[in-house]
Amino acid sequence: MWQDISRLAEAYGDRAILDLFAADSARFEHFSVSADGLLFDFSKTNICAETREALLALCTAADLPAKREAMFGGAKINETEGRAVLHTALRNLSAQPVEVDGADVMPGVLATLERMQQFSDAVRAGDFEGQGGRITDVVNIGIGGSDLGPAMAEIALQPFADGPRCHFVSNVDGAHIHDALRGLDPTRTLVIVASKTFTTIETMTNARTAWDWMAEKVSDPGAQFAALSSNQEKTAEWGIDTSRVFGFEDWVGGRYSMWGPIGLAVMIAIGAEAFREFLKGGEAMDSHFRSAPLQDNLPVLLALVGIWHNQGLGYATRAVLPYEQRLARLPAYLQQMEMESNGKRVAMDGSDLQIHSGPVVWGEPGTNGQHAFYQLIHQGTRVVPCEFMVGIEGHEPELAHQHDLLIANCLAQSEALLRGRSLDEATEIMAAKGLEGAELERQARHRVFPGNRPSTTLVYPKLTPFVLGQIVALYEHRVFVEGVILGINSYDQWGVELGKELAVKLSPILSGEEGTEGKDGSTAGLVAVIRAAR
Ligand code: F6P
Repeated sequence: MWQDISRLAEAYGDRAILDLFAADSARFEHFSVSADGLLFDFSKTNICAETREALLALCTAADLPAKREAMFGGAKINETEGRAVLHTALRNLSAQPVEVDGADVMPGVLATLERMQQFSDAVRAGDFEGQGGRITDVVNIGIGGSDLGPAMAEIALQPFADGPRCHFVSNVDGAHIHDALRGLDPTRTLVIVASKTFTTIETMTNARTAWDWMAEKVSDPGAQFAALSSNQEKTAEWGIDTSRVFGFEDWVGGRYSMWGPIGLAVMIAIGAEAFREFLKGGEAMDSHFRSAPLQDNLPVLLALVGIWHNQGLGYATRAVLPYEQRLARLPAYLQQMEMESNGKRVAMDGSDLQIHSGPVVWGEPGTNGQHAFYQLIHQGTRVVPCEFMVGIEGHEPELAHQHDLLIANCLAQSEALLRGRSLDEATEIMAAKGLEGAELERQARHRVFPGNRPSTTLVYPKLTPFVLGQIVALYEHRVFVEGVILGINSYDQWGVELGKELAVKLSPILSGEEGTEGKDGSTAGLVAVIRAAR
């Protein structure tokens, strides 16, 4: 199968996408798919019917439909940790039974959702108070999957935020918690400690700092702490009352956890009803993913386009470019979701991966990125496949003219990437400015855009909680499909462990309690410089 992809990449890698449009006047219709209000256009790539068939064949060869049902059905597909992968159960509002080890997990999931709702309602209504009165601010302390999802969503859903102000602290850099707490009233602040393991050093250190900060002003800091964790033993050690501990099972991976307790800060910000809309969006994407034929299936198509560009054509990175300021943190969120999931060099069976793993994912919202890195995307020597996304409507009717400008910019960028500008066109432009001869040629060459650079566009109606749920679940399933096709385990993250272990060992070396014996010359040298300067 991969030989077919290599052969097609060899044969078609350089062909002109514009020629494909010329050969098929309905190419847009043939290479875009809609579902539940979302439209995914991949006609501005050089995928043709033959390539699409070969890519779809990868799904069949990898037994994708059966593996998809295994995931939804609670099978332990995270084989290196012996766990099921059931973040989908967190948004299974239909409550269809989902069994793990013979027991239906849904009653527990729905009971926790109900408890979250009661607590969130109480905080929002002022029935749950701080020791100085109504809660005005919520500080979520977590990192990675316990931060990126809710932090992203809280910004994305600002038009729906009518609860206390939310702040997110992740970095162990004391500057982060210091700046977040500055100006807050400890007697009216709720601290949420979000950590699946409740052992993550950054989170526990920041939680201790927040506790001490609160202890200066209130007699019982623990009464203003809530915990989101699978580790009930540790939350008990912290003395956080079980009524404010919201647990989840080991079958919810950190980077897939924003649908459950890890989403509590978002629920408090936007209210339980809007949060349920977010879940419904995810649930709608789940049912699309499970029921749509592979060739019309949004997550499958996103995955296949990614595989064509990365494993097929060798483009090592992927830019995520939301034309939506409120999706400013989506690229960072997707970066963890995709790179922690599919950045693996060993296949599920322990053998070396024979193809490249997932791409480097990065991005920024448009139009800001246009004034920063798009230069390289348009004229650099490397091809960067771009994933544009844009809403048809904004939330500010009085600023609709600005939204039109936003959309125009989004479409203009993908058009420019596709079309480019030839030397003849550039020469004509510069000649009209009065240049001639060698100088005309030199100046014109700088103004050439090679074009033929691939991009996709995801169009959604308006960024509501439901639509955000659809988008997040779309990307989650895309990562799943890519992982299945690559034959890797998308749900472990052993690659983050070594650095953590070494950091723990370096702490006493930095403080001078231990020496640098056994360290490489660079690390020992850096430690010496830092120690000498203190
Ligand atoms: O850095 C790896 C990681 O385990 C992520 O997968 C996870 O999202 C993050 O750390 C935070 O973990 P926890 O929620 O256990 O604090």
